[in-house]
Amino acid sequence: MLEIKEIYKTFNAGTINEKRAMNGVSLTLNDGDFVTVIGGNGAGKSTLLNLVAGVYPVDSGTISIDGQDVTRLPEHKRAKFIGRVFQDPMMGTAATMQIEENLALAARRGQGRSLRPGITRAEREQYKELLKILDLGLEDRLTSKVGLLSGGQRQALTLLMATLKKPKLLLLDEHTAALDPKTAAKVLDTTEKIVQRDKLTTLMITHNMRDAIAHGNRLIMMYEGRIAVDVSGEEKKKLTVEQLLNLFSKASGSDEADDKLLLG
Ligand SMILES: Nc1ncnc2c1ncn2[C@@H]1O[C@H](COP(=O)(O)OP(=O)(O)OP(=O)(O)O)[C@@H](O)[C@H]1O
Ligand SMILES: [Mg+2]
Repeated sequence: MLEIKEIYKTFNAGTINEKRAMNGVSLTLNDGDFVTVIGGNGAGKSTLLNLVAGVYPVDSGTISIDGQDVTRLPEHKRAKFIGRVFQDPMMGTAATMQIEENLALAARRGQGRSLRPGITRAEREQYKELLKILDLGLEDRLTSKVGLLSGGQRQALTLLMATLKKPKLLLLDEHTAALDPKTAAKVLDTTEKIVQRDKLTTLMITHNMRDAIAHGNRLIMMYEGRIAVDVSGEEKKKLTVEQLLNLFSKASGSDEADDKLLLG
């Protein structure tokens, strides 16, 4: 579903701020893989997702989604393959619009400009059904303005919108990090439900090692623009935080596996 071959990215090349953020990463995801991504600040996690989404081009290497080489495809053309949720709950939804209007936007994404005004009764029923999986009672608040929702409710709605069209790839960049622990757990639970239901191929960045271990069928840890640890299958299931820290120390050749990684 996703094939990344030897990608490199240097920011501000040739200046004093030069930074090699991606240092020859190769990664292949199979259909339905749910991969958690961890690593310290500046390790290159967000850069990896941004390069996949086409926010900026790679310096070299290739990226294919579902067999199609998208390396040279601009961001807006890749968007039809990809659902994204970011850390900031304010980002994925339009505050001044109603819940149902936001869902209609997501549902009509990629269909070009629809001249059809309003939302049909059938669509409204469909949105209600979709909202139920969030378990937040939003199915009874279709006409509420999204700006009135809490951060957690809004992030849950963003997740629903990002996955509405069953994207070939779901990219989550610390999408629960700005929420209180209880709300974060709920949104993560919903994520798990949607990913399993629709068998979505997913990359999820988190700073929480326990979450990274508890979710998904594969875990990668990034360090200095490379994949330093890659664990899957039975090994991943049995993994403990302590083992993960040990793996990281070995891979990075340092004791830098400190609480910075543990703390969300
Ligand atoms: N658009 C950009 N312009 C310049 N430098 C950038 C840009 N994006 C990322 N970088 C640099 O690339 C490196 C990797 O950053 P990235 O955001 O991928 O890290 P990260 O693993 O997501 O870290 P964090 O856990 O803090 O979110 C950092 O040194 C960062 O400063
Ligand atoms: Mg990041």
